[in-house]
Amino acid sequence: MAAAGVPTARSFTCTTAEEVAAALDELGAPYVVKDDALAAGKGVVVTNDRAEAVDHAAACGRVVIEEFLDGPEVSLFAVCDGRTAYPLQPAQDFKRIFDGGLGPNTGGMGSYSPLTWAPADLADVVMEQVVQPTLDEMVRRGAPFVGCLYVGLALTDAGPRVIEFNCRFGDPDIQPVLAMLTSPLGTLLHAAAQGRIDEVPAPVFADGAAVTVVLASAGYPESSSKGDVIRGVGNANGVNDVDVIHAGTAIIAAPEPGDPDHRHLVTAGGRVLAVRAVGYDVADARARAYAAADLITFDGLQRRTDIAAEPLGVVEGASVKDS
Ligand code: GLY
Repeated sequence: MAAAGVPTARSFTCTTAEEVAAALDELGAPYVVKDDALAAGKGVVVTNDRAEAVDHAAACGRVVIEEFLDGPEVSLFAVCDGRTAYPLQPAQDFKRIFDGGLGPNTGGMGSYSPLTWAPADLADVVMEQVVQPTLDEMVRRGAPFVGCLYVGLALTDAGPRVIEFNCRFGDPDIQPVLAMLTSPLGTLLHAAAQGRIDEVPAPVFADGAAVTVVLASAGYPESSSKGDVIRGVGNANGVNDVDVIHAGTAIIAAPEPGDPDHRHLVTAGGRVLAVRAVGYDVADARARAYAAADLITFDGLQRRTDIAAEPLGVVEGASVKDS
C-alpha cells in the first residue's frame, strides 16, 4: 500500500517487548494490536488499556501495531482482471458479538447493503484511490492480481483508509451484495479470469436492500458448539424473500422407531447460519430477516438484535477487521 500510495493506517511490525512498547508509545491509545497470522477474524485487540495491549502482543509473538482509524467501516468488493476492475455495491458488516458493538471481534454477525448513508461516490473514490493504484502496483511487480479484492475501509474524517485487504468475497458482507446483483455474476467472473473485464457491462444492482443476520453457536467467538440440533430452517427458508445460508452445519443420523433414516441438522461451527432477506429498503429487509430468524432455534443460539438497525453508519465500538 505504501508503494502504491494507498491511504491506510501507519503500522509497526514487532517481535520484541521493546519494539511493542516503542510502537504503543508512538501511536498512542486506542491501541490496535494484531496477531501477524491467520486468526479467523479474532486476532485483533483494540483497547485503551496499555497492559491489555502488551499482554496480547506477548501472547501472539509477532504482531502488527496500528494507528487507530476512527470512522464507520465499509466493505467494498472489486472484481479484478489483472489490469482493471469493477466495484460491487458497498456493504457494511457488524464485527462484534454483542449488540451495540460490544464484546470480542468475530468474523461478522450480520451485514447489509446498500449503504444509504454513505457518499454516493464512495465506490468511485475507492476505485480511484485504492483499487486501481493497487492493481497498477501489482502489474509493476510482475504479479497482476486477478480475482476479488475485498477492501475493508474506515471512512475517517480525512477520507477512506484501508484497514485490510482480502483476496476473496467476505462473509457475511458479500451476502446482501449478491442478493441485490441482477447482472450475471458468472459472466463477470469469467471475463475477469480471462483479462477482459472491460468487454462486459458494469454490474447492475436492484433497487431495495438486503440484510443478513448471522446465527452463531454457544461459545462463539472464543469457541463453538457442535451437535446442537437446529430446528425451523425449512420454515424460514424461501419465504418472504428469505434465504438461509449454511456456514457451520452438518447432518447427522438420528434413527427413530419407524424412521431408520431420520436425520438432524446440527451445529458444526461458530457461525452456523446466515438468514438473508431482500426488501424494499433496509428497514423492510431487516424486518423480514429477523422474522425468519425468529423461526430458527438451537441450544445456545447467539445473534445480535441490532443488525442494520437505525441509526445506520455509526462507528461500532472500535470495531477493527483483521485476518
Ligand atoms: N466479514 C469479514 C470478513 O469476511 O473478513
